[in-house]
Amino acid sequence: MANTAETAAAPGTPVVRLDGVSREYGKASGAFAAVSDLSLDVPRGSFTTLLGPSGCGKTTTLRMIAGFVRPTSGRILLEGADATSTPPEKRNIGMVFQSYALFPHMTLRDNVAFGLRTRRIAKPEVLRRAGEALELVGLSHLADRRPAQLSGGQQQRVALARAVAVRPSVLLLDEPLSNLDARLRVQMRQELLRVQRETGLTAVLVTHDQDEALELSDHLVIMNGGRLEQQGAPREVFPAPANRFVAEFLGYQNFLTVPGHGPVTVRPEHTRLLADGEAAGGDGVLLDAQVRGVTYQGSHCLVEVAAASGDGEATLHCLHPGDDVRPGARVRIALPHRHLVALAGGAGTEDR
Ligand SMILES: Nc1ncnc2c1ncn2[C@@H]1O[C@H](COP(=O)(O)OP(=O)(O)O)[C@@H](O)[C@H]1O
Ligand SMILES: [Mg+2]
Repeated sequence: MANTAETAAAPGTPVVRLDGVSREYGKASGAFAAVSDLSLDVPRGSFTTLLGPSGCGKTTTLRMIAGFVRPTSGRILLEGADATSTPPEKRNIGMVFQSYALFPHMTLRDNVAFGLRTRRIAKPEVLRRAGEALELVGLSHLADRRPAQLSGGQQQRVALARAVAVRPSVLLLDEPLSNLDARLRVQMRQELLRVQRETGLTAVLVTHDQDEALELSDHLVIMNGGRLEQQGAPREVFPAPANRFVAEFLGYQNFLTVPGHGPVTVRPEHTRLLADGEAAGGDGVLLDAQVRGVTYQGSHCLVEVAAASGDGEATLHCLHPGDDVRPGARVRIALPHRHLVALAGGAGTEDR
C-alpha cells in the first residue's frame, strides 16, 4: 500500500517542523515547562524517535504535533505550512497509543474502517482500504472478530492498521510496544519497521527504551527535562554522546577526567585490563587501579575497578576476556585514545 497522502510541499520539506516550541502548565506564578524551546525536523519518510526518561515531555510533544495540546509559544509546521492553530481533525495524522484504544463492540474491520468513515470516502472504498490495512498487519483472517478475542500484540496490530488506513501524512506512535511482554515487544519492533517501510509513511515514535530507539530510528531525538539534548542518526549519536546525560541514557557507565582530554566516557569493551608487568602496547592512557569486584559472565568477566584519574578516583567497568583477576588485585587499565569520547558540560551529572 503506497502512501498517497497528497502534499504540495517540496520533497525536501520536513513533514513536521517544530520551531522553538514550548508548553507550560500551571499559573504564571508557578509555571512549569513540560517542553522548552524545542526545535526539530521530522524528515519525510523517516522513522524518527523521541527518546528520553519518563516525564521529559515526549507525549506532550507528540500531542502538540497531533493538535491535542496547543504550544504556549513557538510554531508547528506540517508539510511546510504553519499548523500551530489547526485543529486535530484537519491535520491528517494517525496515532497509536500504549493502550490499544479499540472499540470493543466493533469487529476488527469496523475498528479499522472507523477513521475512514469520518472522512468523506465511499463505502466500498472504505471497506477496501480497511481490508488492505488489516492485510498489511497480517490479520485479514480475523477481520470479523472483536478485540476481546485477540492477544495484546494482535490488538496493537489492529490499532496500527487503523492509524495507517487513513494514509496520514505522519504516523504518531506513543510507546506502542510498552504494554507487550518482553519477547513480543522485540518481535513487534521489526513488524513496526516493516509496516513503516512498506507504506513509506513518516513515523514519529515516542519511547523510553534506548534499544528500541536504536533499532528502529533513522533519526533519533534525545530529550531531557523538556529540552532537546542531542539528535542525529543512531550511528552518529551512539558513539559520540554529547554530554553525560545522553551517555548515561545510552548505557555508558565509565566517567572520568583524563589529563589532555578533560571529561570523557569509554565503553567497558574498549578498556583493557593489564596484568602485572604486561606491556600496554599501542597508544592510550594508562591508569593505576585496584580491582573491587569481578562478575563472571561466561565469555568474559565484568571487572569493576577503582582507578586513579585526573579528578581523583573513578569507578570503571571493564570487560575482561579472562577469569584471572580477583578483588583487591592491583592492575593497570589501558584506555585507547581513539575510544575516549569527550563529553561537554563536565563529567558530573548536570542539574536541570
Ligand atoms: N495536562 C497536564 N497538566 C499538568 N502537567 C502536565 C500535563 N501533561 C503533562 N504534564 C507534565 O509535563 C511533564 C512531561 O509529561 P509528558 O509529556 O507526559 O512526559 P513523557 O511522555 O516524556 O513521560 C511531566 O512532568 C508531566 O507531569
Ligand atoms: Mg509519555
